[in-house]
Amino acid sequence: MFRLDDKVALVTGSTRGLGWAIAQAFAAQGAHVIISGRARDDVDRRVDELTAGGFRASGRAADLADPVAGIALVDTVAIEHDRLDIIVNNAGINHRAPLGEFDDEAWRRVVQVNLDTPFALARAASVHMVRQGSGRIITTASVMGTAVARPTIPAYVTSKAGMMGLTRALAVELGPHGVTANAIGPGYVATEMNTALVEDPEFNQMVTDKTPVGRWGTPEEIAGAAVYLASDEASYVNGQTLLVDGGMTTAL
Ligand code: GCO
Repeated sequence: MFRLDDKVALVTGSTRGLGWAIAQAFAAQGAHVIISGRARDDVDRRVDELTAGGFRASGRAADLADPVAGIALVDTVAIEHDRLDIIVNNAGINHRAPLGEFDDEAWRRVVQVNLDTPFALARAASVHMVRQGSGRIITTASVMGTAVARPTIPAYVTSKAGMMGLTRALAVELGPHGVTANAIGPGYVATEMNTALVEDPEFNQMVTDKTPVGRWGTPEEIAGAAVYLASDEASYVNGQTLLVDGGMTTAL
C-alpha cells in the first residue's frame, strides 16, 4: 500500500523543509521526483542525494514568485516525461510584521507565491492530468488557513485560507476527470521558515503548551500525509485539507 511506483511527481520548494521531506518520501515509495527550487545549486545537490541513494530524480530551478515560470516548469516536466501524475504546490513564504507596518509589497509577494502561483501551476498541471485521466494535486496549506490565526501574518493566513478554497474548487472541477485535489494543513513544524519561532523561548513554549502531543511536528510527519494523499489508497479523498498538527486546532 501507499506505493508511488513509476509516478512522475513535481514538488515545488523541495530543496529544503517540508518539500525536501516530501520529495524523499515520494522517492522512497518509487516515484520519479522532480526537485524544484530557486537556486540551481541546491536543486542539483538534492537530485544528486536522491540518485546516489538509488532513487529516481531530476530537477529544475524556478523562481515561483513568477507564475509564468511555474507554468513553464509544469509544462516542461510533463513534456519531458510524457506525463505528470502528482504535483505538490509546496513552495511558500511568510512575512511577519504588525498590521500597521505590513506594506503592500510584502502582501503582494506572499499572496503571489502562496496563492497566485499555486493556482497557475494547478491549472497547468490539470491540462496534462485531464488528458491522462488521472492525477493528484496536493497543496501545502496550514492550520493558519483554518479556524485559527495569530497576529502579524495577515498575508500568510489569507493565502493559506485561499489555498484551501482553491483545493475545493479544483476538486469539484477535476474529479470527473480522475484527478483529485487535496491540501495538507501542517501545524507548527521546525523548518527553516520557522527558525526564528523555534529559537524564541516564549513562542516555543506556546507551541508545546497548545499542542496536545506537546511538541513541534517534524517534516517527515508531514511527508507521510503527502504520500497517503498521492497514493491510490486516497483515490476517494477529494477537496479535503488533512490537518497534521498534533491536535493543536482541536485543542484551541
Ligand atoms: C507563523 C508560522 C506558521 C507556521 C505554519 C503553521 O509565523 O505563525 O510561520 O505560519 O509556519 O504555517 O501551520
